[in-house]
Order: sequence, then C-alpha cells, then structure tokens
Amino acid sequence: MIEKIHLIPGPVKTSNKVKLAAMVDVAPWGSEFTQIYSSVKSRITKLANGSDDHTTVIIPGCGHFVMEAILRSFVSGKILIPDTGNYSKRLTKLATECGLIVMSMSVPPTKKVDHIELEKILIENPDIKHVGLIYSETGTGVVHDIDAIGTVVNNNKRRMIVDAVSAFGALPINLENHPEIDAFGATANKCLEGLPGLGIITVRLERYYKNMKTLYTGICHMGLIPVIGHEAQGPIIINVHGPNHSSKWDAHKFSTDLYERGLIISPWPPLDTPSFRIGCIGAVTDDDINNALKIIRETMPSHF
Ligand SMILES: Cc1ncc(COP(=O)(O)O)c(C=O)c1O
Repeated sequence: MIEKIHLIPGPVKTSNKVKLAAMVDVAPWGSEFTQIYSSVKSRITKLANGSDDHTTVIIPGCGHFVMEAILRSFVSGKILIPDTGNYSKRLTKLATECGLIVMSMSVPPTKKVDHIELEKILIENPDIKHVGLIYSETGTGVVHDIDAIGTVVNNNKRRMIVDAVSAFGALPINLENHPEIDAFGATANKCLEGLPGLGIITVRLERYYKNMKTLYTGICHMGLIPVIGHEAQGPIIINVHGPNHSSKWDAHKFSTDLYERGLIISPWPPLDTPSFRIGCIGAVTDDDINNALKIIRETMPSHF
C-alpha cells in the first residue's frame, strides 16, 4: 500500500517512533506498565501546568466518551454551552442525555466567543452553574479565548469544563491560572500525536502554526477563500469555501479524488456552506504540506 499524506484533524499521522513503541507488548500487571502509566499521567498534568491539586485520569475511549465522563462527574443543574460549531452541538447533546439543563449562546461560526456577552448571560441567569467551552472548535478551526472566558467565569463564581480534544498538546492550558476549570478532556490521537488510547506527549504548536500558515497562503494563492479570517484562524484545522461558492460542489467526491491522488482530508465538512477542511496537525513535514497543496491545485479544476 502506498502511504498517503494524512491531513485530517485526527486521528493524525503518527511518527515511526510512536509506531515502534506500540510494537512492544507490556504486561498490564507488571511494574513496567505501572511506571509508564504513572509517568504518562504526571507528564500530562505537567503539560497542563497542573499543581498537586490536579491529577490525570486515563480512560480508554474516544473524545466524546471523555467529555461525557466529565459532564456526568463534574456538572449538575444548568450549563451554558456557547454554540461554536459541531462539537459544541455534540457536547450539548451529551449534556442533555446526561439530564442536564443546557442553555445555548449563539456564536457566529467564524468568530470567537464574545466573553462580554457571555458575562451578561451569566449575570442574567444566576442558576447557571457551569460553562462548557470547546477550546479549539474542530468544526470551524476557530480557537476560542480560554483566558478571557475563564476570567469571566471565575469572576462570576461559576465553574468551567473544557473540551480540549483538538487543542491539548498544541495550545496552552495553564491550570494554575484557571481555578474555575474543574476538568478538561483530551485524547492521545490528536495534538499529542499518539495512537488512539495512550499517547506520547510532545508540544508542537510552532510546527502546526507553520503548517496552517503555508496551507492558508497556498489556498489563497489558488484563488480559494478560507472560511475563517486571519484573526480567528487556529493552528489545528482550516475550512475552505468550495470554488466560487459553487452549488455543484460535492465535498465527498472532492475528498475521494484527493484520496486517489494520495491526500487524505476529512470527507465531512461540518459547515452549512459548500466547503472542505484540511487538518494542520500530525507528524507531517513541510514537503507533505507542499505536496498536499499541489494535489489540491491539480484536483480542483475538475470540481468547478
Ligand atoms: C473538539 C472535539 N471534541 C470532541 C471530539 C470527539 O472525539 P472522538 O472523535 O475521539 O470521539 C472531537 C473529534 O474530532 C473534537 O475535535
């Protein structure tokens, strides 16, 4: 099988180091496993700048599983979930299924959550106990301002839970500065660049920003328009409008054609407008990104 360029926003392409590490069988009852497990736990806590008051629990399962566990363990009564995109909608669904009362806050898909508006909602609704924030909204690519929102939540004596599934390992989370955060959820197979399950921890923000900027500029040079403006575009995922906002645009067919030429992107654009989305994360090189742009450039003409 010929290896393709893997640019979906997780599970990401893993390095050979990660693949090789998975080739060693470790007994779950042995001391080696206990050592690895507790070292991963404390390294994750350290990566989030947690204090002795914090700990990390590793649960086998996917991102939604982790977020459901957080909702069921830390939240009761009414939660405010800013409607940032697909993953806030999913969090809302999970929260409702957990029996919580969810209040939504409308957020334009290309903008960051307005923390002043959020504060007004908190003041007007004293029964809201928690805010649930998607830090990096993988549906749109917008990175939300966890510091500004956290400050508002803390000043108003509420609590916060954070979906950091596509943020953790790349974007900073400094738990020392966020006494309002009860828990955040992440997975091994996104910016930690591990296999689904337990992960190897590396901070790769600079490379992701570089990938995003090369992709963003390359896309604009092709005459295509990114959905998110520079000011809100995060380093995890880029959404791009279909050519000329064409109504004939078929994202699934486009991603299948890219696949056949050696580039894997997500076949499910989560926006209502005709669009496609490319991940910037994973163990990919500058050459991979430039080749990806070349493949998109060559494939695009047959999709106008
Ligand atoms: C922000 C965010 N939250 C939750 C999830 C769900 O994770 P999983 O697909 O592992 O259930 C994802 C997956 O892409 C995500 O990006």
